[in-house]
Amino acid sequence: MSKAKITVVGAGNVGASAAHIAASKGLGDVVLLDIVEGLPEGKALDMAQGKGVYAAAGNLTGTTNWDMAADSDIVIVTSGLPRKPGMSRDDLLAKNAGIVKSVTEQIVRTSPNSFIVVVCNPLDVMTHVAAKISGFDKNRVMGMAGALDSARFACFVAEDLGVNIGDIQGVLMGGHGDSMVPLPRFTSVAGIPLPALMAQDRIDVHVERARKGGIEIVNLMGTSAYYAPAAGAVKMAEAILNDSKSIMSCCAYCDAEYNIGGAFIGVPVMLGENGVEKIIELNLNDSEKSQLDTSVSHVKELVSAVETMI
Ligand code: LAC
Repeated sequence: MSKAKITVVGAGNVGASAAHIAASKGLGDVVLLDIVEGLPEGKALDMAQGKGVYAAAGNLTGTTNWDMAADSDIVIVTSGLPRKPGMSRDDLLAKNAGIVKSVTEQIVRTSPNSFIVVVCNPLDVMTHVAAKISGFDKNRVMGMAGALDSARFACFVAEDLGVNIGDIQGVLMGGHGDSMVPLPRFTSVAGIPLPALMAQDRIDVHVERARKGGIEIVNLMGTSAYYAPAAGAVKMAEAILNDSKSIMSCCAYCDAEYNIGGAFIGVPVMLGENGVEKIIELNLNDSEKSQLDTSVSHVKELVSAVETMI
């Protein structure tokens, strides 16, 4: 792909972090967009000046004007409310559905050929909203959750084993919520299956901590995580822009796959220049299947609820 254009919608913590990571990697021209006058301009100017220190290619623009986002290759949608202590991701449904709807309408108007990577919560449902409102082919709309949740799991495992986190490849399925399904059987440390290196009771501790990884951070600092979520979104954008055919967990549209029957849900996928190019179907055991079914049912309930709001 020639020089890429990446728009990040929302100049809050997740959006600004994503723009900063994308810009510092020199992924392309980055547009940081928000509705609050001054905020995206100021943050983009600060980041652009940082590029004078670490010298990465690409322009950085902060704006409240959607026309500046025209013809983006990828739009990362971070706009929406974050959680506060005591809130579940689902509590954000009504508010964020309206925001994602109007953002998606602008994406369709300004960047009709883009890929959309949704980051706001509840993630799987917001991805559904973006897909429905855009009418884009399903391979072009996806949500960032698995890259984050599997990185969280990898972080806990690496710390426990005292190994390099880069050696850990995690797989995780289901919705981005308390019923997400980390898959230790399919997690490896430099190719060695995790269960060969760690006792089941330790694995269980890390699975549970990954499931609650978001709220652990909300409770510590009063708002949602942003560095790791932003890194996850940029990782997806990078795989698409570089056509790297990378396999990672992401929220993608599944129909016959895993018998999901038409829903956006976390699954291992291959990302390349056509977005979600393949959904990898793992041979799940009965317990994994039933955990996935529970998670899918929960996401489908929320999707039914959101249908009355958009
Ligand atoms: C989290 C938010 C981004 O898991 O959902 O931290």
